[in-house]
Amino acid sequence: MSHPLDEAVADLIRATDPAAADLLERESARQTSTLELIASENHVSPAVMHAMGTCLTNKYAEGYPGARYYGGCEFHDQVENLARERAKQMFGCSFANVQPHSGAQANTAVFMALMPPGSTFASLVLKDGGHLSHGMKINFSGHYYTPVHYPLHYDLGHPEAERIDYDAVRRVCLEHRPKMLLCGYSAYPRTIDFARFRAIADECGALLMADIAHIAGLCAAGVHPSPFPHAHVVTTTTHKTLRGPRGGLILTNDEEIARKIDKAVFPGVQGGPLMHVILSKAIAFGEVLKPDFKVYAKQVVKNAQALAGALTERGFRMTTGGTDNHLMLVDLRARKETLTGADAEKWLESAGIICNKNGVPNDSRPPKVTSGVRLGTPALTTRGFKEAEMSLVAGLIDRVLDSSGDAAVCDQTRNEIRALCEAFPMPGHAAVQR
Ligand SMILES: Cc1ncc(COP(=O)(O)O)c(C=O)c1O
Repeated sequence: MSHPLDEAVADLIRATDPAAADLLERESARQTSTLELIASENHVSPAVMHAMGTCLTNKYAEGYPGARYYGGCEFHDQVENLARERAKQMFGCSFANVQPHSGAQANTAVFMALMPPGSTFASLVLKDGGHLSHGMKINFSGHYYTPVHYPLHYDLGHPEAERIDYDAVRRVCLEHRPKMLLCGYSAYPRTIDFARFRAIADECGALLMADIAHIAGLCAAGVHPSPFPHAHVVTTTTHKTLRGPRGGLILTNDEEIARKIDKAVFPGVQGGPLMHVILSKAIAFGEVLKPDFKVYAKQVVKNAQALAGALTERGFRMTTGGTDNHLMLVDLRARKETLTGADAEKWLESAGIICNKNGVPNDSRPPKVTSGVRLGTPALTTRGFKEAEMSLVAGLIDRVLDSSGDAAVCDQTRNEIRALCEAFPMPGHAAVQR
């Protein structure tokens, strides 16, 4: 499935900068001919992709619609308002800031807006599925603030094993009285109970922040419960399940919080907004609001459950026993005690299957090795993969790992994956390869 714009862009770059064109061409070929199972990635539509390569990148638009620090912003105001309105419509909320350059920037702005430096907040630690912007020591969130972490149920015999221990969340919050309680994760395969989190936040006098970076598309489509009306403030990336350009977004129903957030984003932590990306966000949000997106989001979850089931049948262990959303954490040790996440990532890549090593709860191995991989279905679902292909993918993963990355097995699998990818072309990429 080629798109004339891809061809024109590739030709243009080739004519002016062959070295850059060569790299673009290679990366395009890589994306087109491999299976993308990184849970935080997706393939955007040609319109979303090419909106980022437009003249809106030329403009400074510091400030907000109707209150800019530069002239010539008439159409930029309209673009930003379009993105804001669609963002609010997607999540059924009253205020949206579409300017954060990324998810981490959005989180930085929320922290700055709602907590004085040094404040205590509660979150899930990185190794249990949290994000580095949720309190990692060398991140701004752990450097300028004081995180306390709530646990999972670590006992594998517990019926809620490896899921959030909500009673412990309450205990941690009552003990430390955090200013903010943060939920939403990078590697958590189960539904988040936002109402339960809000009840705990209310009891201990905290604001509830939901970072739905991973599940935003599922929430917008009604496939995962919405963080509204429970969360006081919601942050997300726009490039994962939401299938938009790389960026961030902040949402709230509270006018005073919205005012503080606008100030924290600009001039607090950012300068000029990336207006070409905001145009692309508006287009992506428009896509999310169409009925097709609900079908897509439902299929993402069905595919994740099919892949988790097929891998389980082959002897792998899914943490928590499976998945409710778009991702799964695979504990490799159940299949073969010596398998590590680092080896699996490397072997699978050489066969054309792209994923990332990931610690599992209570992992005995260090973060650069790990005992697991994180797999997600948003990108393959965009390509049109369904349950039958997920079963095929599980077989390919098992074959490569069972061979311990044997070169002949990886080569054979790589060829099969090339053929599979040709049968499921990616939107708007094929024409870049010559
Ligand atoms: C839960 C969560 N929050 C924030 C982020 C940060 O997003 P970005 O990489 O755009 O800064 C991520 C990225 O993976 C994430 O998973």
